[in-house]
Amino acid sequence: MQIVVPEVLPREAALALGCGLADAEWVDGNVTSGEGAALAKRNRQLPEASAAAAKGRRVVQQALAASPLFLSAALPRAIYPPLFNRYGPGESFGAHIDNAIRIDPASGTQLRTDLSATLFLTEDYDGGELVIAGGSGQRLRAGDMLLYPATSIHHVTEVTRGERICCFFWIESLIRDSGAREMLFDLDQSIQALTLDRGGDDGEVLRLTGVYHNLVRRWSS
Ligand code: NI
Repeated sequence: MQIVVPEVLPREAALALGCGLADAEWVDGNVTSGEGAALAKRNRQLPEASAAAAKGRRVVQQALAASPLFLSAALPRAIYPPLFNRYGPGESFGAHIDNAIRIDPASGTQLRTDLSATLFLTEDYDGGELVIAGGSGQRLRAGDMLLYPATSIHHVTEVTRGERICCFFWIESLIRDSGAREMLFDLDQSIQALTLDRGGDDGEVLRLTGVYHNLVRRWSS
């Protein structure tokens, strides 16, 4: 299931971040590729250790921590430190699958990639659609984020004008099974709506809230 998380960053803040990063020094995107992906990848990336990347990472990490929709959809155990990529005219990323395991460069810990995320930071470009598992191409407003199963084959179509700058990263979820995670997301969304309707102290709302938390206890690993 793909989930759009709107306004992880306010649009103006996302555009400002994308604009600021555009002036930084970018390198060949293949620095983070798995062997299979390197063949297909034609883009650029901010070096992970650069000051620009560190600043952008902080902005995104704070926004993720403050996004109830993201937290509900992903139920993160660990979030890979966000990275930034850039596609100009003629650049694209052919069909590939993201590596199952990533090593967090800061902590050295392993992270299993259950979900992939792309947060859009520019809008003034043509092409550059993210196509997941043969679905229709996605390009979102600046500040919006697409969350999709890391198990999906995906590609980015060629940019023909302008600069597509995005933040991307992976999530290891507390709930490894995507079907279970999606049911918990649906349940949580319904509980939120019912809570608005009936109040959090309603008996049935309380019981459903209990079911939600007990399922997380049962299924989390
Ligand atoms: Ni990918």
